[in-house]
Amino acid sequence: MPDQAPGFTPIHAEFGARVSGVDLSQLVPDSVFEAIDAAINQYSILLFENQNMNDAAHLDFTQRFGQLEEEHVTYYSKGEVTYIGRVGNIDNDGNRVSVRQIKSSTGNEMWHSDSSFREIPAMYSILSAYEVPDEAGETEFASARSAYQRLDTPTRERIESKIGIHDYIFSRTKVGEDAVCESQRTYMHPVRQRLVRQNPVTGERNLFVGSHVKEIEGMLDTEAKPLIAGLIAEVTRPESVYRHRWQRGDLMIWDNRCVLHRGCGYDADKYRRRMHQTRVRGLGPSIAEVVDVKIPAHCT
Ligand code: OGA
Ligand code: MN
Repeated sequence: MPDQAPGFTPIHAEFGARVSGVDLSQLVPDSVFEAIDAAINQYSILLFENQNMNDAAHLDFTQRFGQLEEEHVTYYSKGEVTYIGRVGNIDNDGNRVSVRQIKSSTGNEMWHSDSSFREIPAMYSILSAYEVPDEAGETEFASARSAYQRLDTPTRERIESKIGIHDYIFSRTKVGEDAVCESQRTYMHPVRQRLVRQNPVTGERNLFVGSHVKEIEGMLDTEAKPLIAGLIAEVTRPESVYRHRWQRGDLMIWDNRCVLHRGCGYDADKYRRRMHQTRVRGLGPSIAEVVDVKIPAHCT
């Protein structure tokens, strides 16, 4: 009998779909995987509900898309390589994490694209929910592709070949100087990323911005700061945001190349929140990506 094709139901007018008929705790058949892979290029985020995940299945699924990216906090603070990131307030042993770690993770409450501070920014993130707070703790998503489509032609021309400087130390110290440790300061350097990227499969363009962007190469701060803030505001205008209220067993995959996301905060003293995250390494530095010469006409 042929494998059942997965179903995709939009969850927001601009992007995102809920996927039905897939059990990610088992090895997914090639045909199903290919449908999922194609759907990410189309929808940018995919939600799988009622999954019965564990780390092995999570890692196996992640590796179908490409190379695993090492989790950056452990890597840059302790030099240890791990591929599962712990998101929330619970450590590997089931205990509460330190106040410093909680504070540092509030940096996730600014709109960002995962690992845009790496020379090769992450392609996808996959987040699996094991324990969720009774209230709050949502994650919000917004499409930087839809936002690009809304830009007028002069703005498109202005940003077309610009390079943003992304810097983890810059963004994390916004929540406090002690949100990063000495080792992170030593090893995490600013990197250059294109401000406009293009999906290699569909050809669609998008903005590439977020909290890690410190400056724009060759532009004075007086011009760059409002431009960066304006572009983030365009991506994340309220009607364009999908806010996800997590249920245990939810798994979300999102395309960091063209989606911004942020955590919404929760009462970390009162509730437990335990999510595991993996990332798929990007295909190369964004500055090496090909972008069509011709700027597409603005269509609204
Ligand atoms: C992440 C992230 C936000 C949240 O996992 O990359 O930004 O809501 N999470 O935990
Ligand atoms: Mn994130």
